[in-house]
Amino acid sequence: SSKPSSKFTATTKALSKADKEMAKFYVLIGPPGAGKGTQAKIIADKYGLVHISSGDLFRENLKNETELGKLAQGFMARGELVPDDVTIGMVRDRISRPDCKNGALLDGFPRTPAQADALAVMLKEFDSKVELVPLIDVPAQVLIDRLSGRWSCRAQGHVFHEKFNPPQVAGICDIDGSELYQREDDQRSTVENRIKVYTQQTAPLIEYYQSRNLLVTVDGTKPIDEVSADLQAAIEKA
Ligand code: AP5
Repeated sequence: SSKPSSKFTATTKALSKADKEMAKFYVLIGPPGAGKGTQAKIIADKYGLVHISSGDLFRENLKNETELGKLAQGFMARGELVPDDVTIGMVRDRISRPDCKNGALLDGFPRTPAQADALAVMLKEFDSKVELVPLIDVPAQVLIDRLSGRWSCRAQGHVFHEKFNPPQVAGICDIDGSELYQREDDQRSTVENRIKVYTQQTAPLIEYYQSRNLLVTVDGTKPIDEVSADLQAAIEKA
């Protein structure tokens, strides 16, 4: 077998550097039920970005009964955060995969300042950084109504709402035809705890990203298509 010439190696190196320079990473933040998953799917499709939802990754591990899933289960059922080291390791693995070479839209990660620091370090290793952090702002009362009427699809985590975004056929995902179910952590008492955990542990990220000039706030109480339009405008302006 012939070794690649040094010229060839130089070219591939140059190419991969150009790829890395093009990589764009966006972080969607907002309280539980703000519409992060709904918007992430729309925006990721529009810009050809990979959608990385830490909640979906945990739920996939839960479904497959992996060690990680077993570890996360109790925390998720109580509406608490899974410990930082576990969460950071899981996201790091996902971001390292080749499909993220052009960037990704992160939804649900980071959720603590320690996770945000870890994200900055891992992106730096890929010669990249966080481009923009849209905050989807929605008051607590609206969140409870949204989560109590939410139906999620088993296959790919598409989300619907019985009043605000009903599927064409009740109980079936419009997009992939899989079964819709109600998440265990969408019970009212768990939702209240998730909102409390957001306020205490995740809301500090607003200031964290504001001080780095990366935060842009979008009114998440508008209809889904208007929120998408506002997010796109923010991304294109960045
Ligand atoms: P995760 O899955 O990330 O849950 P979350 O942040 O609580 O967010 P949700 O998925 O509940 O809401 P969303 O903002 O995506 O809203 P959606 O688009 O569905 O996390 C679950 C758990 O995993 C955590 O509690 C934790 O245990 C663990 N975890 C995950 N990440 C972690 C991390 N980084 N660190 C530690 N632990 C972690 O919309 C909600 C509903 O509203 C839907 O029915 C939708 O149709 C409807 N809707 C959306 N937009 C609108 C609109 N504009 N108008 C009307 N209705 C709307």
